[in-house]
Amino acid sequence: GLSETERTERIAAAREELGEDVIVLGHNYQRREIVEHADFIGDSYELSKRAAEADAPYVVFCGVTFMAESADIITDDDQTVILPSMEASCPMAGMAEALQVDAAWAEITSSAPDANIIPITYMNSYADLKAFCAQQGGLVCTSSNAHHAFEWALERGDKVLFLPDKHLGENTAYRLGMEDAIAEWDPWDPEGKDTDEVAQSDIILWDGYCQVHERFRVEHIEQVRAEYSDANVIVHPECRREVVEAADVAGSTSTICDTVANAEPGETWAIGTEIHLTNHLQRWHPDVNVVPLCGDACMDCNAMRQVDPNYLTWVFEELAAGRERNVISVAPEEKELAQIALDRMLEV
Ligand code: 13P
Ligand code: SF4
Repeated sequence: GLSETERTERIAAAREELGEDVIVLGHNYQRREIVEHADFIGDSYELSKRAAEADAPYVVFCGVTFMAESADIITDDDQTVILPSMEASCPMAGMAEALQVDAAWAEITSSAPDANIIPITYMNSYADLKAFCAQQGGLVCTSSNAHHAFEWALERGDKVLFLPDKHLGENTAYRLGMEDAIAEWDPWDPEGKDTDEVAQSDIILWDGYCQVHERFRVEHIEQVRAEYSDANVIVHPECRREVVEAADVAGSTSTICDTVANAEPGETWAIGTEIHLTNHLQRWHPDVNVVPLCGDACMDCNAMRQVDPNYLTWVFEELAAGRERNVISVAPEEKELAQIALDRMLEV
């Protein structure tokens, strides 16, 4: 394989040829060798907005498929979104497929025939599910505005169906004081579809989760507090309820970044999220003591990891040679509907 120096030189040469025609966006969870080539680094929502603001005809999106799809939805039709690896798919997004949700929707709505149920999908979902939510009067949310999306939906309807992340859904219900109004819907378990519970509850949670954040445990927080008596603990709201409760703060990846950026020198912050962001934060803020919450256990997202620096080199060199590789393009009819669900999010 290429050395890092060789790769950097080849990327620089290709970018020189492409000039202003390309912008590179990098999610907070991408590895160092990737984010070092990014024009902007941020959370999934910020990166979509950056894509929309950009004039460049090519957007190289270093993240996962659902993020690149959102960038394609939000950018102009003459802009092309490129994902360096087509294998970079978030498993959580795959836990609520539009066809499966469509089938469940019939069961869920017939459990409460007189209720107006509004579906909300987390940004971590595919465009066809976003389109489905728009069609049913619902919207999209991110981890930073989920509570506003719930309020928006409950002003217009009687119940919310939240997909795919049950932990973000539960944490949001607690934030709104609605913890006693939760029902769970497990589409894979015949016992997990309690229609009576659905009829009696205001918040219905689809049984999806993030395989990275679900691995954090209260014991990890106890260990870090035992080791550093002054430790502050911040976790992503995709973590389990009890982990969020035991932490000092919960917030999206941009909240985590802002919190560490505003910490006083010498403070200790234990971070409960994907390990690459924790490592970036220590590099970006050497005065702060940044500690991974899980100690030695590596909380590495293997979907984000699919974006390999060699693939980044390849997509740049191909583009410089006039070949568009790994284009992410949402079908026009889905795009129009998914855009409505995203616009409703901007409204809240
Ligand atoms: P953000 O929306 O906070 O960037 O998070 C995306 C994600 O995949 C979290 O696991
Ligand atoms: Fe998906 Fe979790 Fe990876 Fe985020 S960290 S992209 S939710 S698997």
